[in-house]
Amino acid sequence: MSIKINNYEDIKNIKIVSRIVHEMLNYISFFIKPGVTTGYLNDVCYNRIINYYKAYPASLGYMDYPKSICTSVNDVVCHGIPSYKTILKKGDIINIDISICKNNYYSDASKMYFVGEPNKLSIKLCKVTYNSILKALKYIKPGNKINLIGKAIQNYIDKFNYSIVKDYCGHGIGKKLHEEPHILHYINNCDLIFKEGMIFTIEPIINLGTFKTKIMKDGWTVKTVDKSLSAQYEHTILVTNNGYEILT
Ligand code: MF3
Ligand code: CO
Repeated sequence: MSIKINNYEDIKNIKIVSRIVHEMLNYISFFIKPGVTTGYLNDVCYNRIINYYKAYPASLGYMDYPKSICTSVNDVVCHGIPSYKTILKKGDIINIDISICKNNYYSDASKMYFVGEPNKLSIKLCKVTYNSILKALKYIKPGNKINLIGKAIQNYIDKFNYSIVKDYCGHGIGKKLHEEPHILHYINNCDLIFKEGMIFTIEPIINLGTFKTKIMKDGWTVKTVDKSLSAQYEHTILVTNNGYEILT
């Protein structure tokens, strides 16, 4: 297995596209409110990415995925396809996942948004999911084992009795959207080591109920089998000489 070590030029370009992903995740927040459709949010993103940033939404056409972002509402775990039929309502939680390509370099990130006033359970699930990334970050530096990420996330999440989805994982990223290695979000015995210049995503999906998921008939939308609420955050991260840098 060969894990890419990015050079100065690679890192410069991945930082540029990561900045765009970050700005898009801020930009779209202003459009999320009760009554709007996820299809509309998709179109807002498509137009901004193409016309303003002169970049390309990497999910569009990826393995025939039909839209420019993923919009995963409530019990949708990931890969929700934006639709004009999906109307957001007060109390929903939604993950927006944005992958962008610019100058042939990729970046990928996602976050949770509340539609109207959130309830306490949703707020806590989202906070804990984001915090699980922060717990993992502490272990990222050259020489450490990559599996410390999964260990840190699981040790933290177990305290809340939430579950960690095992069917999807983080990934190397750079010249392609998905590169090696796989970054697992639960305890595992992968023996790879962090090296300066590696770039990868951490993107834990945390459920209130079971970790088990199923794919819907559209071939993409993934839901919890027990219809429990699911949350995910994702960052693209660079390994530096003495730690890490969050690029998104
Ligand atoms: N952004 C997703 C990830 O985290 C993948 C998007 S590609 C799609 O890897 F086709 F599923 F949209
Ligand atoms: Co990703």
